[in-house]
Amino acid sequence: MTFSKTILAAGTALSLLTACGGSESTETSSAQKTVEKPVVTPAPSSDASAPATPVAVPTGPAEEFAALPEPYKSADYKAGRRTFKLCQSCHTLGAGGQNLVGPNLYGVFGREIGGVEGFEYSKAVEEANFVWTPEKLDEWLVSPRNFLPGNKMSFAGVRKEKDRLAVIAYIMAETGYETPTQ
Ligand code: HEC
Repeated sequence: MTFSKTILAAGTALSLLTACGGSESTETSSAQKTVEKPVVTPAPSSDASAPATPVAVPTGPAEEFAALPEPYKSADYKAGRRTFKLCQSCHTLGAGGQNLVGPNLYGVFGREIGGVEGFEYSKAVEEANFVWTPEKLDEWLVSPRNFLPGNKMSFAGVRKEKDRLAVIAYIMAETGYETPTQ
């Protein structure tokens, strides 16, 4: 009897040992508790795809003459637009506009008279030699025929000085006039 008790006791001791065996490991997972990385959103790789930043446009499309030098700055916008109706059957103003009976006038100020590629000017214009300024245009518009005899702009002129000033300001505003840097 005593013998079998001993065996039983030994068996119990063995099973206790086994139970203790697996208890070493529960700490490792706390290492995973790293501080979460700040989420860095990668910048879009091409600038072209970025939405255009809305930019405050200082002036509308020539609704007024604020950007022009005096006396054109103070000219009457409506009178200018109205007076240009006298020219518009023969002239366009926009960049890349067509030549009609007369040449496109975009960028005319600062350009040599007769300077539009592909437009057939009269001999009188081809032989003339000056750069368009607002003042020159004023002289031309008083009476194109007297200003440059032999030119082929069949237009009597703009008689009122105020209307000339206004239409010149309108053309400046519509054709990308830039104050010349001296
Ligand atoms: C009936 C058509 C017609 C009308 C109206 C007309 N033009 Fe012209 N314009 C011409 C023609 C044609 C020429 C080219 C003249 C030449 O080669 O002799 C010209 C030339 C010009 C030029 C010189 C351009 C250059 O490249 O050197 C200016 C500036 C101009 N016109 C302004 C005006 C303005 C401003 C008005 C209105 C107030 C006007 N024109 C009305 C037909 C016209």
